[in-house]
Amino acid sequence: MKIWMAPAGLHVEPAQVGDEKSLAALHAEGFFRGWTTADFQSYLRSAETPIYVACDAKRKIAGFSMLRIADDECELMTIVINKKFKGKRLSTALMQAMIEDLMMSPVTKMFLEVDEDNQPARKLYDRFGFAQIGERRGYYPRPDGKTATALVMKADLG
Ligand SMILES: CC(C)(COP(=O)(O)OP(=O)(O)OC[C@H]1O[C@@H](n2cnc3c(N)ncnc32)[C@H](O)[C@@H]1OP(=O)(O)O)[C@@H](O)C(=O)NCCC(=O)NCCS
Repeated sequence: MKIWMAPAGLHVEPAQVGDEKSLAALHAEGFFRGWTTADFQSYLRSAETPIYVACDAKRKIAGFSMLRIADDECELMTIVINKKFKGKRLSTALMQAMIEDLMMSPVTKMFLEVDEDNQPARKLYDRFGFAQIGERRGYYPRPDGKTATALVMKADLG
């Protein structure tokens, strides 16, 4: 199994069947309308949706990211870090691990959507060379019933 070093004494490795509860709990922490344990059960069994976790030696998960791969394109479906671990560049370690694997695959383009008001995420994607290619108004539902605009971003790999 592949392992990448990460900050805060953690490392990044592929998620495993059995991680679904931790992933759903973390996702619910990061997003309004998080995905369910059942959703993660099926993602973990699909080669098209690889998941990477940042965890400690006991596999306590501090953050994770997930891709959806289709032919030579992929989309960053989600990336989320537990609030206690934010600001430590764990998301950078997750991005690096994903991109390293993608560079050895047929994927040449990576897409993502980000809430235009999400400054930490936008800073992260800027650092990895993502450029805005469009926007989707009213894309994200908010707890107050309003909606937020998503920026659609793309990076060329390799
Ligand atoms: C976006 C997110 C994944 C970034 O993860 P992270 O590991 O904390 O990211 P980093 O440590 O690389 O920090 C990214 C930037 O945000 C800043 N930042 C964000 N939250 C911070 C915090 N709580 N404390 C300190 N700095 C913080 C960092 O200073 C950094 O800016 P810089 O590049 O100018 O130094 C994380 O904030 C998160 O889980 N957010 C909720 C889910 C989410 O919005 N995901 C993205 C969906 S598109």
